Amino acid sequence: MKILRVLNREPVFPPPVWLMRQAGRYLPEYRALRAEAGNFLNLCLNPELAAEITLQPIRRYGFDAAILFSDILILPMALGQGLRFAEGEGPLLPPLQSLDGLNLNTAPEIYAPVIETVRRVRAALPTETALIGFAGSPATVACYMLDGKGGGGHFPRTSWLAYENPALVEGVVDMLVTGTIAYLQAQISAGANCVMLFESWSGIFPPAQFRKFVIAPTKKIVAQLKASNPGLKIIGFPRLCGLLLGEYVRETGVDAVGLDSVTDPEAAIAACPPGTVFQGNLDPLLLKSGGAALTEGVQTLLRQFQDTPHIFNLGHGITPDVPPEHVAQLMDVIQGAHKAS
Ligand code: CP3
Repeated sequence: MKILRVLNREPVFPPPVWLMRQAGRYLPEYRALRAEAGNFLNLCLNPELAAEITLQPIRRYGFDAAILFSDILILPMALGQGLRFAEGEGPLLPPLQSLDGLNLNTAPEIYAPVIETVRRVRAALPTETALIGFAGSPATVACYMLDGKGGGGHFPRTSWLAYENPALVEGVVDMLVTGTIAYLQAQISAGANCVMLFESWSGIFPPAQFRKFVIAPTKKIVAQLKASNPGLKIIGFPRLCGLLLGEYVRETGVDAVGLDSVTDPEAAIAACPPGTVFQGNLDPLLLKSGGAALTEGVQTLLRQFQDTPHIFNLGHGITPDVPPEHVAQLMDVIQGAHKAS
């Protein structure tokens, strides 16, 4: 698998590619199954449909990896917090007041369908295609649990609680560390070839909190999973973490780091230890534009990362308004690329 070669620090050119949210509303075949299932959570908890949706973009584009079709909020739901997705509003949860009512022991039964999806997808994928398992990182998942919604990445209650009631934030994060280790271990045991931790909102935490709620919990998850699964590769995605990127990579022990679109590749390479593997970071808006802007954006990134182990991806998820033929264009540009001298 090309992605595992790169995660083992072998530079491969052209690089392997997959795209965050590669299964989703921009694909007509996704919208058809979504309409059949009624809502998004039903899809996530139906192994037959979730496996089919995971495979749709692989059939269409031949990406080097499939990512499990699920959501980072399945874990809090499995812990016992109510979750619903309101049309046009994103996820809604009752803002958490205490840890009472959350239960780590019963979570595996509730997320069992997701683990069954992993099994089915791995069995159906071509041998050269990697299956990426994932979870949200504790701080990001805690943001949704404490604020109850995530409109535009503002989590005012979580930001305030980090000062006003740090014990509550720490309690949630600690519980999520334990829950996330078990959840990812189940995905690995069911056939995931590597795992990714989505820390989409790490950018809301000032440095001291970033160290406490982002770096330390991630380090525990990485250490435990690696101890139980020799050779396992882990991708971290500390979105919008700015100048804390190098420290995140050094301290957490992740094998690869996903870059958001506002991070300059050359600055990121300079900030991280030699040998760091990068994933990213094309602006999803270029995928919406298509044309010469897309081709040039892809070529620029390929050049910037050509001497570094790199997994081509976006800096954030594909938006529903992306024309599917622009994704085909992106694949053509990558597959036809030659190293610049
Ligand atoms: O990348 C993939 O294709 C795998 C599946 C995946 C989804 N969500 C499917 C999804 C993954 C890896 C996620 C992660 C996720 N979920 C994150 C981290 C990555 C990021 O985008 O920052 C976050 C913050 C969430 C929480 C979440 N889920 C939000 C805020 C929303 C609403 C936004 C939206 O696009 O509607 C979701 C819903 C969601 N998750 C959809 C999909 C395909 C859309 C569901 C639909 O209406 O069909």
